[in-house]
Amino acid sequence: GNIRMKVTIFGTGYVGLVTGACLAEMGNHVLCVDVDADKVARLDRGEIPIYEPGLEPMVKRNHAAGRLEFTTDAAAGVAHGHVVFIAVGTPPDEDGSADLRYVLAVAKTIGQAMSGYTVVVNKSTVPVGTADRVRAAIAAELAARGSQATFDVVSNPEFLKEGDAVNDCMRPDRIIIGSSSERAVQLLKTLYAPFNRNHERIVLMDERSAELTKYAANAMLATKISFMNEIANIAERVGADVELVRQGIGADPRIGYHFIYPGAGYGGSCFPKDVQALERTARAHGYEARLLGAVEAVNADQKRKLFELIARHFDGALKGKTVALWGLAFKPNTDDMREASSRRLMEDLWNAGAAVRAYDPEARAETRRIYGERADLMLCDEPYQALQGADVLAVVTEWKIFRSPDFARIREALRTPALFDGRNLYDPEAVEQAGIAYYGIGRGRSLTARAG
Ligand code: UDX
Repeated sequence: GNIRMKVTIFGTGYVGLVTGACLAEMGNHVLCVDVDADKVARLDRGEIPIYEPGLEPMVKRNHAAGRLEFTTDAAAGVAHGHVVFIAVGTPPDEDGSADLRYVLAVAKTIGQAMSGYTVVVNKSTVPVGTADRVRAAIAAELAARGSQATFDVVSNPEFLKEGDAVNDCMRPDRIIIGSSSERAVQLLKTLYAPFNRNHERIVLMDERSAELTKYAANAMLATKISFMNEIANIAERVGADVELVRQGIGADPRIGYHFIYPGAGYGGSCFPKDVQALERTARAHGYEARLLGAVEAVNADQKRKLFELIARHFDGALKGKTVALWGLAFKPNTDDMREASSRRLMEDLWNAGAAVRAYDPEARAETRRIYGERADLMLCDEPYQALQGADVLAVVTEWKIFRSPDFARIREALRTPALFDGRNLYDPEAVEQAGIAYYGIGRGRSLTARAG
C-alpha cells in the first residue's frame, strides 16, 4: 500500500475539503481544521457544505474509516500533521489584491503550536512572495517563544475546476512543487506519489515561480475566453458566425479546441479575482499589464451582452416585461454564484423594470440567499415553469438539460417567442424554424440572414 502520512489541512472550503478527501482516499490520516464550529459540526455529521460531484461519498467513506477528521482545534491540527496545508481563502480586498489576512493568521498559529520538523504547504492562490511572508510569520512566532523547531514552506498551487474537482485532484495533469528545500521536496514527492501515475507529473521549481504559475494559468485561460468574445463581437458586426470560426481555428493544435467558447462572459471564484490580482502584482512591481486589463474590460462588457440584446429586441421598453432565465450558476455542475454572468443580467433587467423567472438545477437556494425574496424574482422548480407568462427566454449557463429543449413548448409558452442564447448552445436555424427569434453571441450570419 501507500506510505501513510499524517496531514493537516487548514481551511475546509473548496480546495481544503477536496484536497483533504483525496489525500485520505490515498490512505493518509487527514485532520481538517476550520474556525467555523458550525461547519466542522456539519462535516462531522457527513453534511457537505458545497455541491461537488463525487465529494460527499468520498468524505463519508474516509470519515467512517477514521482517515478524515474535522476539528476547530488549531493547536491539535498543528500537532497532528508532518505536512500542514494552508488552504484558507484569499478574498480580494478593496483594491483587488489578494487579502492574506487568513493565510498569515494560520502561519502565526503554526508558529505558536509547532514542535517537530513541519512542511508548511501553501495551497491557496497567493501573490508572488507569500511563501516568504508565511516563512517570516512562522519564524517570528518560533523566535518569540524560543523554539528551535525547524520547518520549510512550499508553494503547491491547486488547479481544481469546480464541478470536476475530485477528478482533477485524483488525476492531476501536473503537480507543481515550489520549494528550495530538498527535505520538503522529498516529503511532498512521497505524499503525491499515488497521484503521479503513468508519466511524470511533478514539476519542481522555486516558490516564486510556483506562485506565478497559478496566476499565469488562470490568466491565460481568461485571456482565451476574452479573445474569443472579442472575435464574436467582430463576427457579429461583419456578418460571420463565430461558431464556425471557433471550429476553424481550434483545429490548429497550437490553438486547440479548449476554452475558446464565446459566451456571456466568465465568472467564478478564480478568473475574475486572479486576473485582477495579477494585474495588481505587476503594477506593484512597476509594470503595467495592458493585456490583463483588456481581458477584464472585455469580460465586463460581455457580461452585459445578453441584456443589450434583450433591450434592443424590445426597443428599450423593458418595463413590465418578464424574462425567463435558464441557468444561474457561473457554470454547470456547481451551485456557485460568485461573479456569475446571470447576476449582471438579472440586476440590469431589474434596474430596467423587468421581472425574472429563473430555473437552475442547483443554484436556486444560493440565488435566494443572495437576493432574498423579491417581487421581480421568481425561482422555479422546473425549466418550463420558468417560461409561464414570460415574454422571452435567456440561457445563461450551459447545463446539459438545456441542450436539447422542446422548442415547440418554448414557442407556445412565451408571449413573444425569442431565445437569447448566452452560450451558443443551439442551431440558430433550428430555433427560427420552430418559430422563435434567435439571438446568439457573435452569430452575425444568422442575424444577417434574418434581416435579409
Ligand atoms: C478555473 C480553472 O479552470 C481552474 O484550473 C482553476 O484552478 C480555478 O479556476 P473554475 O473557476 O472552476 O476553474 O471554472 P472554469 O471551468 O474554468 O470556468 C470559468 C468560467 O469561464 C465559467 O464562467 C465558464 O462559463 C467560462 N468559460 C469557460 C467560457 O466562457 N468559455 C470557455 O471556453 C470556457
